[in-house]
Amino acid sequence: MLSVSNLDVRYGQFRAVQGVSMNIDQGDIVSLIGANGAGKSTLLRAIAGALPIHSGRVSFKQHDVTTTSSSARVKQGLSLVPEGRRLFADMTVEENLLLGTTVKRSGDWSIERIFATFPNLVKRRHAKTGNLSGGEQQATAIGRALMSNPDCLILDEVSLGLSPLVVDQVYASIDSLKDAGTTILLVEQDLERAIRFSHRAICMLEGKIVLDKLTSDTNKEEITHAYFGLQQSKHQEASQ
Ligand SMILES: Nc1ncnc2c1ncn2[C@@H]1O[C@H](COP(=O)(O)OP(=O)(O)O)[C@@H](O)[C@H]1O
Ligand SMILES: [Mg+2]
Repeated sequence: MLSVSNLDVRYGQFRAVQGVSMNIDQGDIVSLIGANGAGKSTLLRAIAGALPIHSGRVSFKQHDVTTTSSSARVKQGLSLVPEGRRLFADMTVEENLLLGTTVKRSGDWSIERIFATFPNLVKRRHAKTGNLSGGEQQATAIGRALMSNPDCLILDEVSLGLSPLVVDQVYASIDSLKDAGTTILLVEQDLERAIRFSHRAICMLEGKIVLDKLTSDTNKEEITHAYFGLQQSKHQEASQ
């Protein structure tokens, strides 16, 4: 479904993503984990076409989309919910959701189905998103991406800044997408949740993938080493 090969993404001279390759099959739920600054958002944005790449390839449903615009990728069924939600604060929930249909794509998602998936949003339908709680804003951002009927949904840190209860609600909604067969790639800071929620996790460290196919069976020490880097792991554990 989604394949990345030897991808390099740079900010000036700085190589934020270095030689990353990965494959995600149709219906896979994959989480991308790694410390702050590991390059997760950069990788997701490059996959979605929101950032130019330096070298390597991205292919989606057997098509090379390396140089395809982000809106053309949405049209092909690849949608990103960016870190920080990026809603239009002065627009209502409904208006923000309708923005998700700017790129026309057929499918089952409608405004009413978004409200059925996120019932807390119903009473906020005509409220400006700038006045919503963090959880309501996140639901709107996910809903906006779903309005484009994605085959593959990419979510960057959906739980950032939300209370544990709200995080559970947001994940319950994402969970319902699994049944629809939507392929999901998500970044999640909560390691245990990431591993529990997905079929496998991929760990990045300093721009590179250091552990692929990470599951609940993976040795804890191996995960810690991958997450923090070999040299730093003892120090990091001690400071927690
Ligand atoms: N717009 C930018 N300009 C320059 N450097 C950036 C920019 N965005 C991110 N970086 C750097 O790239 C690295 C990876 O960042 P990011 O992809 O946001 O990591 P993560 O999402 O894993 O926290 C970090 O060192 C970060 O400081
Ligand atoms: Mg990030």
